[in-house]
Amino acid sequence: MKAILRLYESYRPLFRLLPYVKRHGWMYAALFLILFLDIGSSLFFAWLIMHVTDAAVAADMGRLKLLLAVGAVFVAVSGLTIFANSYLQAMTVNKVRKMLSNDVYRHLLKQPVRFYSERHSGDLLSRLTNDLQAMENAMGYSLLALIQMPLMAGMALVYLFTLNWQLALLCLLLGPLALGAGSLMGNWLRRNGRTVQNELGRLTGFVADTIAGQLIVRTFALGRQFAERYERDTERLYKLEQKEAKAFSFYRAGSSSFGTALFLFSLGVGSIFIAQGKLTVGTLMGFVMLLRQLVSPLSGLSGVWNAMQRSLAASERIFELLDAKPETGELPQRTRQKPLLEGIRFERVSFRYGESADSAQVLDNCSFDVPAGQTVALVGPSGAGKTTLFHLLLGFYTPESGYVAMDGCDVKTIGRSELTARLGYVPQDTYLFSGSIRDNLLYAKPEAAETELIAAAKHANAHDFIMSLPEGYDTEVGERGGKLSGGQRQRLAIARALLWDAPVLLLDEATSALDGESEQLVQEALARLAAGRTTLMIAHRLSTILNADRIVVLESGRVVDQGRHAELLARCPLYARLYEHQFRSEPLPEKAAAAV
Ligand SMILES: Nc1ncnc2c1ncn2[C@@H]1O[C@H](COP(=O)(O)OP(=O)(O)O)[C@@H](O)[C@H]1O
Ligand SMILES: [Mg+2]
Repeated sequence: MKAILRLYESYRPLFRLLPYVKRHGWMYAALFLILFLDIGSSLFFAWLIMHVTDAAVAADMGRLKLLLAVGAVFVAVSGLTIFANSYLQAMTVNKVRKMLSNDVYRHLLKQPVRFYSERHSGDLLSRLTNDLQAMENAMGYSLLALIQMPLMAGMALVYLFTLNWQLALLCLLLGPLALGAGSLMGNWLRRNGRTVQNELGRLTGFVADTIAGQLIVRTFALGRQFAERYERDTERLYKLEQKEAKAFSFYRAGSSSFGTALFLFSLGVGSIFIAQGKLTVGTLMGFVMLLRQLVSPLSGLSGVWNAMQRSLAASERIFELLDAKPETGELPQRTRQKPLLEGIRFERVSFRYGESADSAQVLDNCSFDVPAGQTVALVGPSGAGKTTLFHLLLGFYTPESGYVAMDGCDVKTIGRSELTARLGYVPQDTYLFSGSIRDNLLYAKPEAAETELIAAAKHANAHDFIMSLPEGYDTEVGERGGKLSGGQRQRLAIARALLWDAPVLLLDEATSALDGESEQLVQEALARLAAGRTTLMIAHRLSTILNADRIVVLESGRVVDQGRHAELLARCPLYARLYEHQFRSEPLPEKAAAAV
Protein backbone atom coordinates (compact mmCIF):
# COMPACT_ATOMS: atom_id res chain seq x y z
CA MET A 1 0.00 0.00 0.00
CA LYS A 2 2.76 2.38 1.04
CA ALA A 3 4.68 1.54 -2.10
CA ILE A 4 1.67 2.34 -4.25
CA LEU A 5 1.23 5.67 -2.46
CA ARG A 6 4.88 6.47 -2.99
CA LEU A 7 4.62 5.61 -6.64
CA TYR A 8 1.58 7.86 -6.92
CA GLU A 9 3.44 10.63 -5.09
CA SER A 10 6.36 10.48 -7.47
CA TYR A 11 4.19 10.55 -10.56
CA ARG A 12 1.81 13.16 -9.28
CA PRO A 13 3.13 15.85 -11.60
CA LEU A 14 2.03 13.60 -14.43
CA PHE A 15 -1.49 13.46 -13.07
CA ARG A 16 -1.44 17.22 -12.62
CA LEU A 17 -0.89 17.46 -16.34
CA LEU A 18 -4.15 15.63 -17.00
CA PRO A 19 -6.33 18.76 -17.17
CA TYR A 20 -4.05 20.07 -19.90
CA VAL A 21 -4.19 16.77 -21.70
CA LYS A 22 -7.96 16.83 -21.40
CA ARG A 23 -8.21 20.27 -22.89
CA HIS A 24 -6.47 18.92 -25.96
CA GLY A 25 -8.46 15.72 -25.89
CA TRP A 26 -8.95 15.28 -29.60
CA MET A 27 -5.28 15.81 -30.36
CA TYR A 28 -4.24 13.19 -27.87
CA ALA A 29 -6.97 10.92 -29.22
CA ALA A 30 -5.55 11.33 -32.72
CA LEU A 31 -2.08 10.62 -31.39
CA PHE A 32 -3.35 7.43 -29.81
CA LEU A 33 -4.89 6.38 -33.07
CA ILE A 34 -1.62 6.99 -34.84
CA LEU A 35 0.17 5.09 -32.11
CA PHE A 36 -1.92 2.03 -32.87
CA LEU A 37 -1.39 2.51 -36.57
CA ASP A 38 2.31 2.62 -35.86
CA ILE A 39 2.23 -0.60 -33.88
CA GLY A 40 0.08 -2.20 -36.54
CA SER A 41 2.46 -1.22 -39.28
CA SER A 42 5.45 -2.65 -37.43
CA LEU A 43 3.67 -5.95 -37.00
CA PHE A 44 2.54 -5.86 -40.59
CA PHE A 45 6.10 -5.30 -41.73
CA ALA A 46 7.23 -8.46 -39.91
CA TRP A 47 4.38 -10.34 -41.55
CA LEU A 48 5.44 -8.99 -44.96
CA ILE A 49 9.08 -9.97 -44.52
CA MET A 50 8.06 -13.42 -43.44
CA HIS A 51 5.84 -13.98 -46.46
CA VAL A 52 8.22 -12.37 -48.95
CA THR A 53 11.02 -14.63 -47.73
CA ASP A 54 8.87 -17.76 -47.88
CA ALA A 55 7.63 -16.82 -51.37
CA ALA A 56 11.23 -16.25 -52.48
CA VAL A 57 12.37 -19.55 -51.00
CA ALA A 58 9.45 -21.28 -52.80
CA ALA A 59 10.27 -19.28 -55.99
CA ASP A 60 6.62 -18.19 -56.20
CA MET A 61 7.05 -15.16 -58.51
CA GLY A 62 3.38 -14.22 -58.75
CA ARG A 63 2.97 -14.08 -55.01
CA LEU A 64 6.24 -12.20 -54.65
CA LYS A 65 5.11 -9.48 -57.04
CA LEU A 66 1.83 -9.07 -55.21
CA LEU A 67 3.57 -8.88 -51.83
CA LEU A 68 6.07 -6.30 -53.07
CA ALA A 69 3.23 -4.19 -54.44
CA VAL A 70 1.58 -4.34 -51.02
CA GLY A 71 4.96 -3.35 -49.61
CA ALA A 72 5.03 -0.24 -51.80
CA VAL A 73 1.62 0.84 -50.51
CA PHE A 74 2.86 0.15 -47.03
CA VAL A 75 5.81 2.49 -47.51
CA ALA A 76 3.49 5.33 -48.52
CA VAL A 77 1.09 4.74 -45.63
CA SER A 78 3.83 4.44 -43.07
CA GLY A 79 5.47 7.64 -44.38
CA LEU A 80 2.21 9.47 -43.90
CA THR A 81 1.77 8.04 -40.44
CA ILE A 82 5.23 9.13 -39.39
CA PHE A 83 4.66 12.64 -40.67
CA ALA A 84 1.28 12.90 -38.94
CA ASN A 85 2.73 11.50 -35.75
CA SER A 86 5.71 13.78 -35.59
CA TYR A 87 3.80 16.91 -36.61
CA LEU A 88 0.84 16.31 -34.35
CA GLN A 89 3.09 15.49 -31.44
CA ALA A 90 5.02 18.71 -31.81
CA MET A 91 1.79 20.64 -32.16
CA THR A 92 0.30 19.10 -29.05
CA VAL A 93 3.40 19.72 -27.00
CA ASN A 94 3.68 23.30 -28.18
CA LYS A 95 0.03 23.94 -27.44
CA VAL A 96 0.13 22.43 -23.97
CA ARG A 97 3.31 24.31 -23.21
CA LYS A 98 1.82 27.57 -24.40
CA MET A 99 -1.22 27.06 -22.22
CA LEU A 100 0.84 26.10 -19.22
CA SER A 101 3.12 29.04 -19.76
CA ASN A 102 0.15 31.41 -19.89
CA ASP A 103 -1.28 29.89 -16.73
CA VAL A 104 1.99 30.20 -14.86
CA TYR A 105 2.46 33.81 -15.98
CA ARG A 106 -1.05 34.78 -14.92
CA HIS A 107 -0.55 32.96 -11.66
CA LEU A 108 2.63 34.92 -11.01
CA LEU A 109 0.76 38.17 -11.50
CA LYS A 110 -1.76 37.10 -8.88
CA GLN A 111 0.87 36.44 -6.23
CA PRO A 112 1.23 38.74 -3.24
CA VAL A 113 4.26 41.02 -3.03
CA ARG A 114 5.70 38.74 -0.36
CA PHE A 115 5.97 35.92 -2.91
CA TYR A 116 8.40 37.99 -4.94
CA SER A 117 10.45 39.22 -2.03
CA GLU A 118 11.02 35.64 -0.92
CA ARG A 119 12.15 34.29 -4.28
CA HIS A 120 14.93 35.12 -6.64
CA SER A 121 13.75 36.59 -9.92
CA GLY A 122 16.33 34.42 -11.71
CA ASP A 123 14.88 31.23 -10.28
CA LEU A 124 11.38 32.29 -11.31
CA LEU A 125 12.72 33.09 -14.74
CA SER A 126 14.39 29.71 -14.95
CA ARG A 127 11.14 27.99 -14.11
CA LEU A 128 9.30 29.79 -16.87
CA THR A 129 12.04 29.01 -19.37
CA ASN A 130 14.29 26.02 -18.53
CA ASP A 131 11.71 24.04 -16.62
CA LEU A 132 8.89 24.67 -19.03
CA GLN A 133 11.18 23.54 -21.82
CA ALA A 134 12.30 20.46 -19.92
CA MET A 135 8.68 19.53 -19.26
CA GLU A 136 8.19 18.91 -22.92
CA ASN A 137 8.80 15.18 -22.60
CA ALA A 138 6.26 14.64 -19.88
CA MET A 139 3.54 15.99 -22.10
CA GLY A 140 4.64 14.68 -25.45
CA TYR A 141 7.09 12.16 -26.72
CA SER A 142 7.95 10.33 -23.48
CA LEU A 143 4.36 10.24 -22.31
CA LEU A 144 3.24 8.64 -25.56
CA ALA A 145 6.27 6.39 -25.81
CA LEU A 146 5.66 5.12 -22.30
CA ILE A 147 2.25 4.01 -23.44
CA GLN A 148 3.30 2.86 -26.86
CA MET A 149 6.38 0.85 -25.98
CA PRO A 150 4.81 -1.62 -23.54
CA LEU A 151 1.84 -2.00 -25.90
CA MET A 152 4.18 -2.58 -28.78
CA ALA A 153 6.19 -5.10 -26.83
CA GLY A 154 3.03 -6.85 -25.69
CA MET A 155 1.56 -7.15 -29.16
CA ALA A 156 4.88 -8.25 -30.62
CA LEU A 157 5.03 -10.90 -27.92
CA VAL A 158 1.54 -12.17 -28.72
CA TYR A 159 2.47 -12.38 -32.37
CA LEU A 160 5.72 -14.14 -31.50
CA PHE A 161 3.75 -16.74 -29.60
CA THR A 162 1.54 -17.42 -32.59
CA LEU A 163 4.64 -17.89 -34.74
CA ASN A 164 6.54 -20.22 -32.46
CA TRP A 165 5.65 -20.56 -28.79
CA GLN A 166 8.80 -22.33 -27.66
CA LEU A 167 11.04 -19.60 -28.97
CA ALA A 168 8.72 -16.90 -27.67
CA LEU A 169 8.69 -18.40 -24.20
CA LEU A 170 12.48 -18.36 -24.04
CA CYS A 171 12.51 -14.69 -24.95
CA LEU A 172 9.75 -13.82 -22.49
CA LEU A 173 11.81 -14.96 -19.53
CA LEU A 174 14.23 -12.13 -20.15
CA GLY A 175 11.66 -9.28 -20.25
CA PRO A 176 11.16 -8.66 -16.51
CA LEU A 177 14.90 -8.22 -16.13
CA ALA A 178 14.85 -5.18 -18.39
CA LEU A 179 11.82 -3.66 -16.68
CA GLY A 180 13.27 -4.11 -13.17
CA ALA A 181 16.49 -2.39 -14.08
CA GLY A 182 14.52 0.45 -15.65
CA SER A 183 12.44 1.22 -12.60
CA LEU A 184 15.48 1.18 -10.33
CA MET A 185 17.15 3.71 -12.60
CA GLY A 186 14.06 5.90 -12.67
CA ASN A 187 14.13 6.93 -9.02
CA TRP A 188 17.76 7.79 -9.11
CA LEU A 189 17.47 9.76 -12.33
CA ARG A 190 14.56 11.66 -10.91
CA ARG A 191 16.39 12.84 -7.83
CA ASN A 192 19.36 13.83 -9.89
CA GLY A 193 17.12 15.61 -12.39
CA ARG A 194 15.57 17.66 -9.63
CA THR A 195 18.97 18.77 -8.44
CA VAL A 196 19.96 19.69 -11.98
CA GLN A 197 16.87 21.87 -12.43
CA ASN A 198 17.43 23.56 -9.07
CA GLU A 199 21.04 24.25 -9.97
CA LEU A 200 19.92 25.71 -13.28
CA GLY A 201 17.56 27.99 -11.37
CA ARG A 202 20.36 29.19 -9.13
CA LEU A 203 22.66 29.71 -12.03
CA THR A 204 20.08 31.82 -13.87
CA GLY A 205 19.65 33.84 -10.69
CA PHE A 206 23.35 34.47 -10.48
CA VAL A 207 23.52 35.56 -14.11
CA ALA A 208 20.56 37.88 -13.59
CA ASP A 209 22.33 39.41 -10.58
CA THR A 210 25.54 39.82 -12.52
CA ILE A 211 23.79 41.63 -15.33
CA ALA A 212 21.70 43.86 -13.08
CA GLY A 213 24.67 44.64 -10.85
CA GLN A 214 27.18 45.09 -13.67
CA LEU A 215 28.29 48.51 -12.49
CA ILE A 216 28.97 47.24 -8.98
CA VAL A 217 30.82 44.25 -10.40
CA ARG A 218 33.09 46.76 -12.15
CA THR A 219 33.35 49.17 -9.25
CA PHE A 220 34.64 46.52 -6.89
CA ALA A 221 36.65 44.69 -9.55
CA LEU A 222 34.60 41.57 -8.94
CA GLY A 223 35.00 40.22 -12.47
CA ARG A 224 37.45 37.47 -11.72
CA GLN A 225 35.69 36.43 -8.54
CA PHE A 226 32.33 36.24 -10.32
CA ALA A 227 33.79 34.32 -13.23
CA GLU A 228 35.32 31.82 -10.83
CA ARG A 229 32.06 31.41 -8.97
CA TYR A 230 30.21 30.90 -12.22
CA GLU A 231 32.73 28.31 -13.31
CA ARG A 232 32.37 26.51 -9.99
CA ASP A 233 28.62 26.43 -10.46
CA THR A 234 28.75 25.20 -14.04
CA GLU A 235 31.32 22.61 -12.96
CA ARG A 236 28.85 21.34 -10.38
CA LEU A 237 26.12 21.26 -12.98
CA TYR A 238 28.43 19.48 -15.38
CA LYS A 239 29.24 16.83 -12.77
CA LEU A 240 25.58 16.24 -12.09
CA GLU A 241 24.88 15.92 -15.77
CA GLN A 242 27.79 13.57 -16.24
CA LYS A 243 26.57 11.46 -13.37
CA GLU A 244 23.30 11.17 -15.15
CA ALA A 245 25.01 10.47 -18.45
CA LYS A 246 27.11 7.73 -16.87
CA ALA A 247 24.17 5.96 -15.32
CA PHE A 248 22.23 6.34 -18.49
CA SER A 249 25.03 5.13 -20.76
CA PHE A 250 25.56 2.16 -18.53
CA TYR A 251 21.93 1.27 -18.67
CA ARG A 252 21.81 1.81 -22.39
CA ALA A 253 24.85 -0.35 -23.05
CA GLY A 254 23.37 -3.06 -20.83
CA SER A 255 19.99 -3.07 -22.47
CA SER A 256 21.40 -2.88 -25.96
CA SER A 257 23.81 -5.79 -25.40
CA PHE A 258 20.95 -7.63 -23.85
CA GLY A 259 18.90 -7.02 -26.99
CA THR A 260 21.66 -8.19 -29.31
CA ALA A 261 22.28 -11.29 -27.20
CA LEU A 262 18.60 -12.09 -27.32
CA PHE A 263 18.67 -11.63 -31.06
CA LEU A 264 21.62 -13.94 -31.58
CA PHE A 265 20.16 -16.43 -29.17
CA SER A 266 16.85 -16.72 -31.01
CA LEU A 267 18.66 -16.78 -34.35
CA GLY A 268 20.71 -19.74 -33.07
CA VAL A 269 17.79 -21.61 -31.58
CA GLY A 270 15.65 -20.78 -34.63
CA SER A 271 18.31 -22.14 -37.01
CA ILE A 272 18.29 -25.39 -35.11
CA PHE A 273 14.49 -25.47 -35.45
CA ILE A 274 14.84 -24.88 -39.19
CA ALA A 275 17.37 -27.69 -39.49
CA GLN A 276 14.89 -29.91 -37.67
CA GLY A 277 12.18 -28.79 -40.11
CA LYS A 278 10.07 -27.22 -37.34
CA LEU A 279 10.31 -23.68 -38.72
CA THR A 280 10.35 -22.09 -42.19
CA VAL A 281 13.06 -19.56 -43.09
CA GLY A 282 10.38 -16.90 -43.54
CA THR A 283 8.96 -17.50 -40.09
CA LEU A 284 12.40 -17.11 -38.54
CA MET A 285 12.94 -13.88 -40.48
CA GLY A 286 9.57 -12.60 -39.29
CA PHE A 287 10.36 -13.74 -35.79
CA VAL A 288 13.67 -11.97 -35.66
CA MET A 289 12.07 -8.89 -37.14
CA LEU A 290 9.37 -8.96 -34.48
CA LEU A 291 11.92 -9.57 -31.82
CA ARG A 292 13.32 -6.18 -32.67
CA GLN A 293 9.89 -4.72 -31.96
CA LEU A 294 10.01 -6.43 -28.60
CA VAL A 295 13.55 -5.53 -27.67
CA SER A 296 13.76 -2.00 -28.98
CA PRO A 297 10.89 -0.76 -26.80
CA LEU A 298 12.44 -2.43 -23.80
CA SER A 299 15.84 -0.88 -24.40
CA GLY A 300 14.40 2.35 -25.82
CA LEU A 301 12.39 2.65 -22.69
CA SER A 302 15.55 3.59 -20.85
CA GLY A 303 16.03 6.72 -22.92
CA VAL A 304 12.40 7.62 -22.61
CA TRP A 305 12.57 6.91 -18.92
CA ASN A 306 15.55 9.17 -18.49
CA ALA A 307 13.93 12.04 -20.33
CA MET A 308 10.72 11.49 -18.43
CA GLN A 309 12.42 11.71 -15.05
CA ARG A 310 14.08 15.02 -15.84
CA SER A 311 10.81 16.19 -17.22
CA LEU A 312 8.93 15.20 -14.10
CA ALA A 313 11.49 16.97 -11.93
CA ALA A 314 10.93 20.12 -14.00
CA SER A 315 7.17 19.67 -13.77
CA GLU A 316 7.41 19.58 -10.01
CA ARG A 317 9.09 22.96 -10.06
CA ILE A 318 6.36 24.35 -12.30
CA PHE A 319 3.54 22.93 -10.21
CA GLU A 320 5.20 24.24 -7.08
CA LEU A 321 4.67 27.71 -8.55
CA LEU A 322 1.10 26.92 -9.48
CA ASP A 323 0.51 25.72 -5.93
CA ALA A 324 1.55 29.04 -4.41
CA LYS A 325 -1.60 30.61 -3.02
CA PRO A 326 -2.67 33.59 -5.10
CA GLU A 327 -3.65 36.85 -3.52
CA THR A 328 -6.64 37.41 -5.78
CA GLY A 329 -8.89 35.21 -7.83
CA GLU A 330 -9.03 37.50 -10.81
CA LEU A 331 -6.42 39.86 -12.14
CA PRO A 332 -7.45 43.45 -11.37
CA GLN A 333 -8.84 45.66 -14.04
CA ARG A 334 -8.54 49.39 -14.36
CA THR A 335 -11.58 51.25 -13.13
CA ARG A 336 -12.53 54.91 -13.17
CA GLN A 337 -10.88 56.99 -10.52
CA LYS A 338 -13.00 57.43 -7.41
CA PRO A 339 -12.89 60.42 -5.09
CA LEU A 340 -11.74 60.14 -1.49
CA LEU A 341 -14.55 61.41 0.70
CA GLU A 342 -13.45 61.28 4.33
CA GLY A 343 -9.85 60.26 4.46
CA ILE A 344 -7.40 57.56 5.40
CA ARG A 345 -6.86 56.18 8.86
CA PHE A 346 -4.05 54.03 10.23
CA GLU A 347 -5.48 52.41 13.34
CA ARG A 348 -3.13 50.71 15.85
CA VAL A 349 -1.20 49.17 12.97
CA SER A 350 1.52 46.64 13.83
CA PHE A 351 3.50 44.79 11.22
CA ARG A 352 6.56 42.67 10.52
CA TYR A 353 7.87 41.46 7.18
CA GLY A 354 8.81 37.97 8.30
CA GLU A 355 6.03 35.56 9.15
CA SER A 356 7.78 34.05 12.15
CA ALA A 357 7.38 35.51 15.63
CA ASP A 358 11.08 36.29 16.01
CA SER A 359 11.27 38.49 12.91
CA ALA A 360 11.78 42.17 13.53
CA GLN A 361 8.79 44.30 14.51
CA VAL A 362 8.76 46.99 11.84
CA LEU A 363 5.62 48.88 12.87
CA ASP A 364 4.28 49.00 16.37
CA ASN A 365 0.80 50.32 17.14
CA CYS A 366 0.83 53.21 14.68
CA SER A 367 -2.25 55.42 14.57
CA PHE A 368 -2.79 58.60 12.58
CA ASP A 369 -5.22 60.21 10.16
CA VAL A 370 -4.91 61.65 6.71
CA PRO A 371 -8.09 63.72 6.29
CA ALA A 372 -9.31 64.14 2.72
CA GLY A 373 -7.83 67.15 0.99
CA GLN A 374 -4.93 67.59 3.40
CA THR A 375 -1.21 67.01 3.12
CA VAL A 376 0.44 64.83 5.74
CA ALA A 377 4.21 64.46 5.95
CA LEU A 378 5.95 61.43 7.45
CA VAL A 379 9.35 62.15 8.92
CA GLY A 380 11.73 59.93 10.79
CA PRO A 381 15.18 58.42 10.62
CA SER A 382 16.00 55.92 7.92
CA GLY A 383 14.55 52.49 8.65
CA ALA A 384 11.78 53.91 10.86
CA GLY A 385 9.09 52.26 8.74
CA LYS A 386 7.87 55.11 6.56
CA THR A 387 7.93 53.23 3.27
CA THR A 388 6.36 50.26 5.02
CA LEU A 389 3.35 52.40 5.93
CA PHE A 390 2.93 53.09 2.22
CA HIS A 391 3.16 49.40 1.44
CA LEU A 392 0.36 48.66 3.87
CA LEU A 393 -1.86 51.40 2.48
CA LEU A 394 -1.22 50.13 -1.03
CA GLY A 395 -2.27 46.66 0.09
CA PHE A 396 1.11 45.09 -0.74
CA TYR A 397 1.11 43.60 2.73
CA THR A 398 -1.54 43.32 5.43
CA PRO A 399 -0.98 44.49 9.00
CA GLU A 400 -0.40 41.90 11.67
CA SER A 401 -2.87 43.73 13.88
CA GLY A 402 -4.85 46.92 13.53
CA TYR A 403 -5.99 48.11 10.14
CA VAL A 404 -5.64 50.74 7.47
CA ALA A 405 -8.95 52.24 6.42
CA MET A 406 -9.95 54.34 3.47
CA ASP A 407 -13.23 56.19 3.87
CA GLY A 408 -13.96 53.92 6.82
CA CYS A 409 -13.39 50.74 4.83
CA ASP A 410 -10.56 48.34 5.69
CA VAL A 411 -8.06 48.36 2.82
CA LYS A 412 -7.83 44.58 3.14
CA THR A 413 -11.43 44.22 2.02
CA ILE A 414 -11.20 46.68 -0.85
CA GLY A 415 -10.34 44.99 -4.13
CA ARG A 416 -7.12 45.93 -5.90
CA SER A 417 -8.94 47.78 -8.69
CA GLU A 418 -10.97 49.79 -6.18
CA LEU A 419 -7.87 50.55 -4.16
CA THR A 420 -5.69 51.69 -7.02
CA ALA A 421 -8.58 53.76 -8.35
CA ARG A 422 -7.91 56.12 -5.45
CA LEU A 423 -4.15 55.88 -5.02
CA GLY A 424 -1.32 57.32 -7.03
CA TYR A 425 2.18 56.36 -5.99
CA VAL A 426 5.50 57.92 -6.85
CA PRO A 427 8.11 55.64 -5.31
CA GLN A 428 11.57 56.69 -4.22
CA ASP A 429 13.24 55.03 -7.16
CA THR A 430 11.26 54.92 -10.31
CA TYR A 431 10.90 51.78 -12.35
CA LEU A 432 10.52 52.34 -16.05
CA PHE A 433 9.68 49.49 -18.40
CA SER A 434 11.75 48.86 -21.49
CA GLY A 435 10.21 50.75 -24.38
CA SER A 436 9.82 54.37 -25.33
CA ILE A 437 8.99 57.31 -23.11
CA ARG A 438 5.55 57.37 -24.68
CA ASP A 439 4.98 53.68 -23.87
CA ASN A 440 5.89 54.33 -20.27
CA LEU A 441 3.53 57.25 -19.95
CA LEU A 442 0.72 55.33 -21.61
CA TYR A 443 0.88 52.61 -18.94
CA ALA A 444 -0.84 55.11 -16.69
CA LYS A 445 -3.54 55.97 -19.21
CA PRO A 446 -3.61 53.92 -22.41
CA GLU A 447 -6.37 56.01 -23.95
CA ALA A 448 -4.59 59.34 -23.41
CA ALA A 449 -4.37 61.59 -26.45
CA GLU A 450 -1.02 63.03 -27.54
CA THR A 451 -2.00 66.48 -26.23
CA GLU A 452 -2.74 64.97 -22.84
CA LEU A 453 0.64 63.26 -22.73
CA ILE A 454 2.38 66.50 -23.55
CA ALA A 455 0.36 68.44 -20.99
CA ALA A 456 1.29 65.94 -18.29
CA ALA A 457 4.94 66.00 -19.30
CA LYS A 458 4.95 69.79 -19.23
CA HIS A 459 3.39 69.81 -15.79
CA ALA A 460 6.01 67.37 -14.63
CA ASN A 461 8.82 69.56 -16.03
CA ALA A 462 9.70 66.69 -18.31
CA HIS A 463 8.61 68.00 -21.71
CA ASP A 464 11.73 70.07 -22.33
CA PHE A 465 14.19 67.30 -21.64
CA ILE A 466 12.08 64.85 -23.65
CA MET A 467 12.12 67.19 -26.65
CA SER A 468 15.88 67.60 -26.36
CA LEU A 469 16.33 63.85 -26.85
CA PRO A 470 16.95 62.83 -30.46
CA GLU A 471 13.71 60.91 -30.80
CA GLY A 472 11.57 62.88 -28.38
CA TYR A 473 8.70 60.87 -26.96
CA ASP A 474 9.82 57.84 -28.97
CA THR A 475 13.21 57.64 -27.27
CA GLU A 476 13.88 54.22 -25.80
CA VAL A 477 14.49 54.47 -22.06
CA GLY A 478 16.56 51.28 -21.83
CA GLU A 479 16.16 48.50 -19.30
CA ARG A 480 14.78 49.97 -16.07
CA GLY A 481 15.10 53.40 -17.67
CA GLY A 482 18.88 53.13 -17.51
CA LYS A 483 19.42 55.57 -20.37
CA LEU A 484 17.92 58.45 -18.39
CA SER A 485 19.21 60.31 -15.36
CA GLY A 486 17.66 59.89 -11.92
CA GLY A 487 15.97 63.28 -12.09
CA GLN A 488 14.59 62.56 -15.55
CA ARG A 489 13.20 59.22 -14.47
CA GLN A 490 11.58 60.84 -11.48
CA ARG A 491 9.92 63.48 -13.60
CA LEU A 492 8.56 60.79 -15.91
CA ALA A 493 7.18 59.06 -12.84
CA ILE A 494 5.48 62.29 -11.86
CA ALA A 495 4.04 62.69 -15.36
CA ARG A 496 2.78 59.13 -15.10
CA ALA A 497 1.11 59.89 -11.78
CA LEU A 498 -0.46 63.01 -13.29
CA LEU A 499 -1.97 60.90 -16.05
CA TRP A 500 -3.16 58.34 -13.56
CA ASP A 501 -4.86 61.23 -11.78
CA ALA A 502 -5.86 59.52 -8.53
CA PRO A 503 -7.31 61.63 -5.72
CA VAL A 504 -4.75 60.39 -3.18
CA LEU A 505 -1.07 60.80 -3.76
CA LEU A 506 1.66 58.84 -2.04
CA LEU A 507 5.06 60.42 -2.45
CA ASP A 508 8.30 58.87 -1.37
CA GLU A 509 10.49 61.89 -1.75
CA ALA A 510 13.78 61.24 -3.45
CA THR A 511 16.76 62.96 -1.96
CA SER A 512 20.03 61.62 -3.09
CA ALA A 513 19.41 60.89 -6.73
CA LEU A 514 18.98 64.50 -7.71
CA ASP A 515 21.37 67.31 -8.40
CA GLY A 516 20.50 70.91 -7.61
CA GLU A 517 18.88 71.82 -10.88
CA SER A 518 16.78 68.73 -11.37
CA GLU A 519 15.82 68.85 -7.71
CA GLN A 520 14.31 72.27 -8.33
CA LEU A 521 12.45 70.93 -11.36
CA VAL A 522 11.24 67.86 -9.51
CA GLN A 523 10.07 69.97 -6.57
CA GLU A 524 8.01 72.18 -8.81
CA ALA A 525 6.53 69.17 -10.55
CA LEU A 526 5.66 67.53 -7.24
CA ALA A 527 3.96 70.69 -6.01
CA ARG A 528 1.80 70.72 -9.13
CA LEU A 529 1.04 67.04 -8.78
CA ALA A 530 0.02 67.42 -5.14
CA ALA A 531 -2.27 70.40 -5.76
CA GLY A 532 -5.89 69.54 -5.09
CA ARG A 533 -5.12 66.02 -3.86
CA THR A 534 -4.94 64.32 -0.53
CA THR A 535 -1.25 63.78 -0.10
CA LEU A 536 0.75 61.52 2.16
CA MET A 537 4.42 62.11 1.69
CA ILE A 538 7.66 60.88 3.09
CA ALA A 539 9.45 64.17 3.40
CA HIS A 540 13.13 64.93 3.50
CA ARG A 541 12.90 68.61 2.68
CA LEU A 542 12.08 71.47 4.90
CA SER A 543 9.97 73.19 2.28
CA THR A 544 7.58 70.25 1.92
CA ILE A 545 7.35 69.81 5.66
CA LEU A 546 6.48 73.43 6.22
CA ASN A 547 3.65 73.14 3.72
CA ALA A 548 2.15 70.07 5.36
CA ASP A 549 -1.09 70.30 7.31
CA ARG A 550 0.23 67.70 9.67
CA ILE A 551 3.59 66.09 10.37
CA VAL A 552 3.79 62.56 11.75
CA VAL A 553 7.09 61.77 13.46
CA LEU A 554 8.10 58.13 13.28
CA GLU A 555 10.86 56.32 15.13
CA SER A 556 11.57 52.58 15.15
CA GLY A 557 8.08 51.79 13.94
CA ARG A 558 6.29 53.97 16.48
CA VAL A 559 4.46 57.24 16.03
CA VAL A 560 6.31 59.50 18.41
CA ASP A 561 4.33 62.66 17.90
CA GLN A 562 2.27 64.54 15.37
CA GLY A 563 1.41 68.15 14.77
CA ARG A 564 2.60 71.20 12.88
CA HIS A 565 6.18 72.27 12.49
CA ALA A 566 6.28 74.95 15.17
CA GLU A 567 4.54 72.79 17.81
CA LEU A 568 6.75 69.82 17.14
CA LEU A 569 9.89 71.88 17.20
CA ALA A 570 8.91 73.09 20.64
CA ARG A 571 7.89 69.78 22.21
CA CYS A 572 9.36 66.81 20.28
CA PRO A 573 13.08 66.25 20.89
CA LEU A 574 13.39 63.73 18.00
CA TYR A 575 11.78 66.19 15.61
CA ALA A 576 14.09 68.96 16.83
CA ARG A 577 17.04 66.68 16.24
CA LEU A 578 15.88 65.71 12.73
CA TYR A 579 15.29 69.36 12.01
CA GLU A 580 18.76 70.21 13.20
CA HIS A 581 20.51 67.54 11.13
CA GLN A 582 18.42 66.97 8.10
CA PHE A 583 16.38 69.99 7.27
CA ARG A 584 18.06 73.00 8.63
CA SER A 585 21.06 73.08 6.36
CA GLU A 586 18.67 73.53 3.50
CA PRO A 587 18.32 77.15 2.36
CA LEU A 588 14.81 78.25 3.17
CA PRO A 589 12.58 79.27 0.33
CA GLU A 590 11.63 82.90 0.95
CA LYS A 591 7.94 82.37 1.46
CA ALA A 592 8.48 79.50 3.83
CA ALA A 593 11.08 81.40 5.79
CA ALA A 594 8.52 84.05 6.53
CA ALA A 595 6.21 81.40 7.93
CA VAL A 596 8.71 80.04 10.45
N1 LIG B 1 10.85 43.50 2.12
C1 LIG B 1 11.36 43.57 3.36
N2 LIG B 1 11.61 42.44 4.05
C2 LIG B 1 12.09 42.49 5.30
N3 LIG B 1 12.38 43.61 5.96
C3 LIG B 1 12.16 44.79 5.35
C4 LIG B 1 11.65 44.83 4.01
N4 LIG B 1 11.53 46.11 3.65
C5 LIG B 1 11.96 46.85 4.71
N5 LIG B 1 12.34 46.06 5.74
C6 LIG B 1 12.81 46.49 7.07
O1 LIG B 1 11.78 47.26 7.65
C7 LIG B 1 12.29 48.38 8.33
C8 LIG B 1 11.59 49.64 7.83
O2 LIG B 1 11.87 49.84 6.48
P1 LIG B 1 11.28 51.06 5.66
O3 LIG B 1 9.81 51.13 5.90
O4 LIG B 1 11.72 50.92 4.28
O5 LIG B 1 12.01 52.30 6.35
P2 LIG B 1 12.05 53.83 5.92
O6 LIG B 1 11.26 53.98 4.67
O7 LIG B 1 11.48 54.54 7.09
O8 LIG B 1 13.49 54.17 5.75
C9 LIG B 1 13.78 48.40 8.06
O9 LIG B 1 14.40 47.95 9.24
C10 LIG B 1 14.00 47.41 6.95
O10 LIG B 1 15.18 46.72 7.16
MG1 LIG C 1 11.94 54.48 2.72
